[in-house]
Amino acid sequence: MNRKLVKTKDESYTLYVPELDEHYHSIHGALQESRHVFINAGLFYLVEKQKDISLLEVGFGTGLNAFLTRVEAERRQLSIKYCGLEKYPLTQEEYSKLHYYKNIGYPGAQQSFEQLHKSSWDETQMLSDHFIFTKLKIDFRQFESPEQFDLIYFDAFAPSAQADLWTAEVFSNMYNSLKTNGILVTYCVKGDVRRAMRSVGFRVEKLPGPPGKREMLRAYKK
Ligand SMILES: C[S@@+](CC[C@H](N)C(=O)[O-])C[C@H]1O[C@@H](n2cnc3c(N)ncnc32)[C@H](O)[C@@H]1O
Repeated sequence: MNRKLVKTKDESYTLYVPELDEHYHSIHGALQESRHVFINAGLFYLVEKQKDISLLEVGFGTGLNAFLTRVEAERRQLSIKYCGLEKYPLTQEEYSKLHYYKNIGYPGAQQSFEQLHKSSWDETQMLSDHFIFTKLKIDFRQFESPEQFDLIYFDAFAPSAQADLWTAEVFSNMYNSLKTNGILVTYCVKGDVRRAMRSVGFRVEKLPGPPGKREMLRAYKK
């Protein structure tokens, strides 16, 4: 996949895919979006209730969500079991230019970030007392979850670029991959997406979005 490095408005980098005319993150701020949608509305929402969290990410990509989650796991002494799915992994040349570890204010941030990319595919590794990590090189439409998760970061490319990743069939798989009272968060609020989620049993809530985007979604399995 051809990808170009792009600086977003909060000074953090993202990647652009010309073939799909899609960015990996919001051009208004990659770091800002990841913190707002996935960390604040997803991880921190659950951390209010539990410290032990199993997490599935659809679209591991740059590793930004996984990295921020790992930093919070260490800071807050959580116990996170993280599984990221990715069909088109980044090369070392690509991830080494992202520099997400800068300005994070966390000791060992660079090593923590790189370790996520360097770790082997399709193997579970205990990266610290607070973070167990698995990266699966797979098309997520083929993913059959061996377990259920507390939280899903649904971070596929937008429906305008990859409509077949936002169907009722995909969300049914996501629903079945969640524990009861589990949640899914995503940046996309399109009507078709909300309808697909509701049709398989999710309760769907719109929340204020990150700067530059009006809204985001949190979906609940009750
Ligand atoms: C919007 S990007 C976000 C990635 C990541 N969460 C990040 O912060 O960089 C979407 C990701 O989904 C991956 N992807 C696209 N189609 C996929 C598929 N069918 N199965 C698994 N991953 C896919 C892309 O390669 C890309 O890494």
